[in-house]
Amino acid sequence: MKIKTVLTILLITIILIALGYLVAVNVHLMPEQAATRAIAVDRLFQQILGIAAVIFLLVEGLLIYAVIRFRRKAGESGDGEPIHGNLAIEIVWTLIPTLIVVWIAISSVQALNAIEAAPADSVVVEVIGRQFAWEFVYPESGHRSTELHLPVGQTARLEITSEDVIHSLWIPDFRAKRDATPGQISELLVTPTVIGVYPIRCAELCGAAHAAMNSVVIVESLEDFEAWLGKVREISLDPLVIFTDYGCGACHALPAAGATGAVGPSMVGIAERIAQRQLGVVVEDYLRHSILNPNVYIVEGFPAQVMPSNFGERLTAEQLEILVAYLAAQ
Ligand code: CUA
Repeated sequence: MKIKTVLTILLITIILIALGYLVAVNVHLMPEQAATRAIAVDRLFQQILGIAAVIFLLVEGLLIYAVIRFRRKAGESGDGEPIHGNLAIEIVWTLIPTLIVVWIAISSVQALNAIEAAPADSVVVEVIGRQFAWEFVYPESGHRSTELHLPVGQTARLEITSEDVIHSLWIPDFRAKRDATPGQISELLVTPTVIGVYPIRCAELCGAAHAAMNSVVIVESLEDFEAWLGKVREISLDPLVIFTDYGCGACHALPAAGATGAVGPSMVGIAERIAQRQLGVVVEDYLRHSILNPNVYIVEGFPAQVMPSNFGERLTAEQLEILVAYLAAQ
C-alpha cells in the first residue's frame, strides 16, 4: 500500500472516530433520570453506544472508501490481485472485539450489582397487573391504588405479579422494567431521586387494551406520601375519588373527575342514555350490573372484554352504592 493511501485511511478513521464520539456523547435518547438505577444504566448505555457508534462509522466509512477508491475502472476486465490473509490484522480484529465484549460483561455485572444492592427496605408495594390496569397495594396499611405513590430518596421493593396473563411493569424514567407473571412474585428495587409524576407502561402485549394499560408513579416527599396514605382511607367514600382511584377515568370520561378516557362510554348523560335504551331495567341496577359484570351490556361501538370484571371484589358494598348513585345522577 502506498504511504498516501495509508495516510488517507488514517485521516478518515480519525475523523470518523471523532464523529462517533460526538454523536454518542451528545445524543439524549433517554427520559429523565428519576431513580438511582437510571444513572448506572445510562452510563453503561452511553459507553456501549459510544463504542458501537465508533465501530459503525469506522466500518461503514472504510466500506464507502473502498467501494469508491478500488472500484472497477472503465476497460478493466481482469481479476483483482489475490490476497493470502494478513495475520496481524486478523489478530487485531479478533483481540479488540474480545476485549470490548469482556469489558461490557464486567461493566454490566458491576452495574447490576450496584442496582440490586438492597439497603434496608423502607416501602414495600405489591404490584398486581391484570387486563387492563395496574393496582398497587401497600400491605402495611392495606391501601390499594391505581397510581403508584413513592416517597423520594427511599428504596422501595416492588413485588410484582399478575392475575391473568403476563404483563410487564415499565417505568422509563426509572430505567426499571420487570415482567408481571401469574403465580410468581418478581422483585424490583427502585430508589426515586426526583419528585415528580412519571408514566408507567405495560411493556408486554397482553390483550385488546394493552396500549391503555398505563398508570403513573407519583414521587413525593415523605410527608406528602404519609399524608396520602392517610388521605386515601379518609375520603375514599367520595364518588369522584373512588372513580379516580379505581382507574375508571382511564377509559370513561367524567369531567367532574377530570377524566377524558374514551375506551368505554362517557359518563356524561349516562343515566338518560340508559333510560333511552329501554332495557326494562332501573338505571341504578343497570349501572351496578355493568360495574360488576362489564360484559353483559355492551354499548354499540365499544369493545367487550376490556373492563376488569373484578370490581365486585375490589369495591366495598358501600363504595359501589355511592358510585352507582353518583353516576345515576349524571
Ligand atoms: Cu398489560 Cu400489556
